[in-house]
Amino acid sequence: MSEAAPFSKQIRSATEEQHNDARSSRFITDMLGGALGIDSYQRYTGQLWFVYRALEARWDSLAADPVAGPFIRTELARTAELERDLAHLIGPHWRDELAPLPATVAYTDRIDECARDWPAGYIAHHYTRYMGDLSGGQIVRDTAERLWNLPHRGDGVRFYVFDAVANPAAFKREYRALLDRLPLDDLERRRVLDEGQRAYSMNTAVFMELAQEFPAAQ
Ligand code: HEM
Repeated sequence: MSEAAPFSKQIRSATEEQHNDARSSRFITDMLGGALGIDSYQRYTGQLWFVYRALEARWDSLAADPVAGPFIRTELARTAELERDLAHLIGPHWRDELAPLPATVAYTDRIDECARDWPAGYIAHHYTRYMGDLSGGQIVRDTAERLWNLPHRGDGVRFYVFDAVANPAAFKREYRALLDRLPLDDLERRRVLDEGQRAYSMNTAVFMELAQEFPAAQ
């Protein structure tokens, strides 16, 4: 793809292969294919809690940053929704039962490092999760509701419900426009594309560890 392509297209095509790898990873296909029990979904949702806590922990300072600031939109915040889902899925003591996998620790450490020291790199992580949740996340919600009889758009799947985003398609268009207007030079853009690929591999690494914990029944 030429350097002149809009950045939203560049990041999408730079990560297309990793997107396919992530969505076709064994854990995801087994879980969404109905081969695993609800405990796999509980464990997966628990890992997401660590990830979103890292993504959202530094929003106050990132909101004031000239590069990352426009991406910090409170209607995307997911931590509270994950906490409601986990209380429903696991019970009131969900926090005591939750531990991050090694791949989750590596992933959240990297998010935190970017949030602290490299706001443009943080955007790569923000994009990889929130744009995915607004897109394919809706397929995950439908499937989870059906497989485990969870209330439609209710506790257990609130993570996937963006009540404060009235029009997800329009929101994604605006998001892509923000990516296209990023005030970064070519070298920095390339670094952000690399970080986007890294964000995807870090998600896939979590799925691989979850796959070890949840081998599908033969
Ligand atoms: C459950 C498996 C998944 C399915 C079925 C899925 C499906 C999709 C679909 C259909 C789109 C296109 C939406 C559109 O054109 O507007 C999309 C976009 C996206 N997905 Fe996924 N996805 C999955 C997993 C993931 C994962 C694990 C991640 C990252 C951790 C991810 C990140 C993204 C991102 C960032 C986009 C936006 C791409 C762009 O327009 O720039 N997806 N997904």
